[in-house]
Amino acid sequence: MSAVLIRGGTVVNADRAFRADVLCQDGRIVAVAEGLSAPAGATVVDAGGQYVMPGGIDPHTHMQLPFMGTVTMDDFFTGTAAGLAGGTTSIIDFVIPDPQENILDAYKKWRGWAEKSASDYSFHVAITWWSEQVRKDMGTLVNDEGINSFKHFMAYKNAIMCDDETLVNSFKRALELGAMPTVHAENGELVYLLQKTVSEMGIKGPEGHPLSRPPMVEAEAANRAIAIADVLGVPIYVVHVSCVESAEAIARARARGQRVYGEVLAGHLVLDDSVYRHPDFATAAAHVMSPPFRPKGNSEFLWRGLQSGNLHTTATDHCTFCAAQKAAGKDDFSKIPNGCGGVEERLAVIWDEGVNTGRLTPSEFVAVTSANTAKLFNIYPQKGSVSVGADADLVVWDPAGTKTLSVKTQHSKGDFNIFEGRTVRGIPSHTLSQGELVYVQGDLRAVQGKGRYIKRPAFGPDFGAAQQRAQTQKPTAVTR
Ligand code: URP
Ligand code: ZN
Ligand code: ZN
Repeated sequence: MSAVLIRGGTVVNADRAFRADVLCQDGRIVAVAEGLSAPAGATVVDAGGQYVMPGGIDPHTHMQLPFMGTVTMDDFFTGTAAGLAGGTTSIIDFVIPDPQENILDAYKKWRGWAEKSASDYSFHVAITWWSEQVRKDMGTLVNDEGINSFKHFMAYKNAIMCDDETLVNSFKRALELGAMPTVHAENGELVYLLQKTVSEMGIKGPEGHPLSRPPMVEAEAANRAIAIADVLGVPIYVVHVSCVESAEAIARARARGQRVYGEVLAGHLVLDDSVYRHPDFATAAAHVMSPPFRPKGNSEFLWRGLQSGNLHTTATDHCTFCAAQKAAGKDDFSKIPNGCGGVEERLAVIWDEGVNTGRLTPSEFVAVTSANTAKLFNIYPQKGSVSVGADADLVVWDPAGTKTLSVKTQHSKGDFNIFEGRTVRGIPSHTLSQGELVYVQGDLRAVQGKGRYIKRPAFGPDFGAAQQRAQTQKPTAVTR
């Protein structure tokens, strides 16, 4: 029986912060109160002057992803271990079937790859094509396998992009099943056209990447997905919202009363598109991801969205490709594998730029780094809460600790760090996963295969019901 007592810290939950000790036993939190005594044999962590928060949940990662002709550097072990070093104790990754691939087969394949995870993990499943079999298998995934969210790539034409027919069928099916549809919102037809146009202008380098994916390309897709969800009466979650235009689309829909949720990436909160004009190809290419980093001004709008509650979660889209892989697009930016890292740095970057600047309170930090994700994907309060009965996935946070983020010290296998050289104040001193100390003041003790697959139950019968009722009300006859 393993026990850890975290003594003398300030517990921060999404709703409040208070002084309490936290006792963890056999993987769970068993007591949260002042003046707890340590059971015999317990390890005691001194959290004086520190915060005790739910471990981060990254709702958007891609470990061991086969993508654009190659496979990401981080697998489920190295990626989740890096997460633990940064205080992130759970990830939600993506099963991405090829078009025509049986989605249950793809799911089983990803489950196999993920067995080496060091932290707990779960999956969104992408719907990349449509058939009666896909419809049926979505039911199996929800009812038997604990999947409650389906992803739709509106970009990546000729690869994993899904058309409107697939979007409509899948959203409708998700509503029937009580599962959340999510979208990568970019109009893939426009991207395809603009990639050709930009290339024909003679722009072949990474600076062409943002030109081929301007904000309106994202906004069009966000508005379309939101409108489809509204007509069908299903909630919708928009991943990696990067610009004013799509954040506004979400805010407008929410103001109309629609259940729309938005995710923001740590990178989009602090970087801008100047990275694509770096004279060194490798540096510029290392930042190629979609949607791209945006002109200055967009980030502040995203912070405002988190503050106001119009945007809800933060993620990384951790998807690491090394310089040799990025070199596939040396003469054609559209062939640079899309993706950047960040699973290890997310919490520190958001604390430093969010809490230290006064943009977020510590409780709002917890909301956007763990609790909101746990609620939206139906694993709250098992995850995302420091409370009795919750999983003992915790981070002890030293608000005075500093660190300069660098590829030289990161645990991720990528050979680049998009936050290179940034000195952050506020870092994890300890991370607990399933009640075990897995990171202690620089010492990473991640264990391959220790992570568990976390089932996420379907939402109940009221899921989307308010909108459905509104949509099915009979119009009153007009008399003239
Ligand atoms: O550029 C990115 N974001 N790569 C990963 C795939 C995706 O679009 O999420
Ligand atoms: Zn995406
Ligand atoms: Zn992604």
